[in-house]
Parts: sequence; C-alpha cells; structure tokens
Amino acid sequence: IDILTFRRDLVEWYKNNKRDLPWRQDQDPYKVWVSEVMLQQTKVDTVIPYFNRFINKFPTIEALAEADEQEVLKEWEGLGYYSRARNLQHAVREVATTYKGQVPNDPDELGALKGVGPYTKGAILSIAYNQPEPAVDGNVMRVLSRVLKIEDDITQQRTKKQFEACARKLIDPQDPSSFNQAVMELGALICTPKSPTCLLCPVQAHCQAFAVGVEEELPIKKKA
Ligand code: ADE
Repeated sequence: IDILTFRRDLVEWYKNNKRDLPWRQDQDPYKVWVSEVMLQQTKVDTVIPYFNRFINKFPTIEALAEADEQEVLKEWEGLGYYSRARNLQHAVREVATTYKGQVPNDPDELGALKGVGPYTKGAILSIAYNQPEPAVDGNVMRVLSRVLKIEDDITQQRTKKQFEACARKLIDPQDPSSFNQAVMELGALICTPKSPTCLLCPVQAHCQAFAVGVEEELPIKKKA
C-alpha cells in the first residue's frame, strides 16, 4: 500500500463528505468524550438527540461533575448500558478534582480513568488533541481488514492489537483527527458490513480485498 496517497485520498474524501454531526462542531475534549462513550454501543442516528440534550444539560466537565447521578441517568434513559453513564460521571469527577477540569492529554493518565478503554482513549487523543494515536473499534477493523486484506479472527484480543499496530502506521501525522474520523466515516457510509459501495470508495485503488473480490468475506469473525 502507498501510505501517502492512501492518507491523502481518504482525508480529502472525508473533508468533502463528512456528516455535519453535533460533536464535530468543535474539538472540545469533553464533548468528544461524551460522544464516543454514547457511540460505543449505539448508532449515530440514535445518539444525536441524546448527545444534544446531554450537552445542553451538562455543558462542561464541572456541570457533569456536580450533577446528581440520578439526573445523569435520567438523560441516559433509553440509551442502555447505564454503567457507561456512571463510569463517565465517575471519571469526570476525577478530572474535575485531579486535573482541574482539564481532560488529560497524556495517554496513561487518560487510560487510567474509569470506563476509558483503548478505543475511547485513542478517539479523545486523536480527535480532540490531534495526537497520532489509533482508535480501533469494530468499524475500523472492518475497513482495515478489507484495505489490508487481513484474514485473522477479529474476535481475538491479539488480532485487535495487530489492527492497532497497523492503524498506528497508517494514521496521517499531519491530521490525526481527520484521519481517524475519516476511517470511521468510511465504515459508516461506504465500507458497510453488507454490500459495501466500493464503486464510490475513495480508497478503492488501495483496497486489497476489492482487488480480488473478497470484500464481503471480510472481516473474519469465528463463532465461539
Ligand atoms: N462512531 C464512533 N465514533 C464516531 C464519530 N466520532 N463520528 C461518527 N461515527 C462514530
């Protein structure tokens, strides 16, 4: 793969085709954090109104830190996976007290916060702080498994580690924020699980799965 043209083709497509989503209005690390936590088990269309209400009610780290847990859970009602909300508030209170309300830009400090796993950590560092850190979730594994024709079982933890290593090499050091969001956007709009729209794909020329017609067979998920 020609990494330089791959990056350029992908990021240029993103800049021209990205959806106008509420968490893309600015690079506030708190808003990036809230959006990424909501998006973990929930689709974009469902998240949008919840995100807007949540940020309206708790616009800052301080506001969320000071809120009653029940008020927070009320805003989360319908999103499910309520431990996400409890962990988020717990971690936000930690940021308020330990880091004076500034979301840490240090990978180890960020990763030590409750509920902040490798994906959320990488998303905040790259999208909000423009650091060249991978943010690998299921969508990103699907895109990379096809582009790089990786045939390992994505349900294995060591495969996810391999994808993180690949993503770290591919990420555009000039614009990590756009690059990572571009991969997510490609997975959402073009490189979909079923019937991907390869005809419209900005990185079709770079895609090793498309080259041999196996895009629909990837990624590989072995059933337990
Ligand atoms: N899925 C996960 N993170 C996302 C983001 N920042 N934008 C759109 N879809 C996403």
